[in-house]
Amino acid sequence: MNSLNQDLCQIVSRVEVADIPKANQDPYRMRFHLMPPTGWMNDPNGLCWYQGNYHVYFQYRPFQADGSGAVFWGHYTSPDLLNWTQQPVFLTPSETWNLHGVYSGSALPTDDGLYLYYTGNVKHPGNHDYIHTGRGHNTGLAITQDGIKVDSNQLLLQNKDYPADLTCHVRDPKVWEQDGRYYMVLGARTKDDRGEILVYESADKLKWTHINTITTPQVFGYMWECPDLFVLDGQCIVSMSPQGVTQSGNHYQNIYSCGYFPLYGDFRGAYTLGEFRESDLGFDYYAPQSFEAPDGRRIVIGWMGMPDADYTNPTVERGWQHGMSVPRELRWNGEQIITVPVRELEKLRGERKELTFAGKISCERKEGADICITNESDSLEIMLGDDAEIVYRCGLLTLKHTGINACGRTKRVAEVEKLRKLRILIDTSSLELFINDGEQVMTSRWYPEHADTIELSGQGAVTIYDMKALEITYLI
Ligand code: FRU
Repeated sequence: MNSLNQDLCQIVSRVEVADIPKANQDPYRMRFHLMPPTGWMNDPNGLCWYQGNYHVYFQYRPFQADGSGAVFWGHYTSPDLLNWTQQPVFLTPSETWNLHGVYSGSALPTDDGLYLYYTGNVKHPGNHDYIHTGRGHNTGLAITQDGIKVDSNQLLLQNKDYPADLTCHVRDPKVWEQDGRYYMVLGARTKDDRGEILVYESADKLKWTHINTITTPQVFGYMWECPDLFVLDGQCIVSMSPQGVTQSGNHYQNIYSCGYFPLYGDFRGAYTLGEFRESDLGFDYYAPQSFEAPDGRRIVIGWMGMPDADYTNPTVERGWQHGMSVPRELRWNGEQIITVPVRELEKLRGERKELTFAGKISCERKEGADICITNESDSLEIMLGDDAEIVYRCGLLTLKHTGINACGRTKRVAEVEKLRKLRILIDTSSLELFINDGEQVMTSRWYPEHADTIELSGQGAVTIYDMKALEITYLI
C-alpha cells in the first residue's frame, strides 16, 4: 500500500479544483472532446472497459499548462463515452523509481483487479544527455480494485533488464492477454539510433521475459514511442509513434509521426512487416492507444497534440492545453485500417440541415458540427469562415489554416485518388476530417475568430448536424 501516492493524489486534486473554473470559462473549451480539467494533457493511458465503465487515464501536468512540471496520471470514467466524470488524480511520482514522472502505460483488466503497467521516469543528477546516460526508464505496475485508487505499486523492470544494445529510452508498456499468456510491448531507442519494439512474455503478469524484438530491415526513425499490438479483423497490427522519420513528399509532414504496420507471421517469432501507413495526416495527433470495448469493437483515442512542434496553442494563457481525439472505431478492410468516430457520438447530433449544391452555398455554423459531404466532382472547396479551408483538387486534399490564430499551423496534405465522401467533426477548437469513410484522417487544433459560416463550392450533397456537448462532471 503506497500511502504517499494516495496523499499526493488528494493534495493534487485539492489544488487543481481551484483552477478548473478558470479553464472552463475559456470559449475555446471543447464541447465533445476530453480536455485536461486544468493544466496540460498528453497521451491517453490505461484505456479500458472495467467494472461497468470506460476508463481514460492520461498524462497530466495539472499545474503548468505549458507542459513543464511533474507528470501525473489524470483520470476520467464514463459508462457510455458520452457522460464523463473526472476522477481524482490516479498516479503521482511518489517512488524512487518514478520520481520524475509517471509516464505512459496501459491497462489489463483481470478478475483480481485492474493492472496498470507504466513507465517510471527518473532523471539522475549530473552531466548527462539523458539518452545514453542519466535516465531510468522503469516498468512499474499499479494494481487497483476499484479503478480509482491505487492499492499497490511495484517496480517490475529496470534498464539493466532490457537488452544491452539499448539507450536508456525504453518506455510505454502496452499489455494484453493472449492464448493464456500475457504479452507486453515496449518502445525503445537503440544505441545506434534505431527505433524498435521489445516483446515480453509473462505467465503471471509479474515476471516478464524478453522474447522478441520488432523492427524494420531499414532504420525507420530513432525512437518508437507508445507501441501497440492487436488483431483487427484477423490481421495483426503493430502501431507506434516513431520519432526521427524525415518528411518525404506528402508523408511524415509533422516533426513526429504515428502509424502502423500489418505484421505477417508471429509477433513472438518470425515475422515480416507490411507497408507503414500514417494514422493521421493533420497537425495534432500523436501517441494513440487502442483497447477492446465490451462489444468487441477496437477503439482508439489519440492525443490531439504534437510534442516539440513549432506551432502552439493560445489556450496556454487561459490555463489549459491540449485534448483527446474523439474515440474512433478501427476496422481492417483487407488492405488498410479504416477509422471512424464511434457511433455513440451520433447521439450528440441535434438539429440537421440537408442540402445539395452545384456551385457555391453558404450556411451558418454552430460551435459544434458534424458535417457529412458526398462529393460528386473532381474538386471541392470548403471555407470555414476566414479561419480554415479544405480544398480537394488534382488528387490532393489540403487542409489550410488561414486565420490570425493559426499559431504557426500552415497546411497539411493528404493524397486522395478520388474523394467520394468527407466527414468533418468541428469543435470549438478542433477539426477532425474523415476521408472516404475513414480511409484517411486529419486531426488539427484550430482557434477560429471569424468562422461562423461554412461555404461549400463544388457539386454534391451535405448534411450538417449541430453537435451537443458531452456531459462532463468535474471534481469541483
Ligand atoms: C509520448 C511520450 C511518451 C512518454 C510520455 C511522457 O508523447 O513522450 O513516450 O511516456 O509522452 O509524458
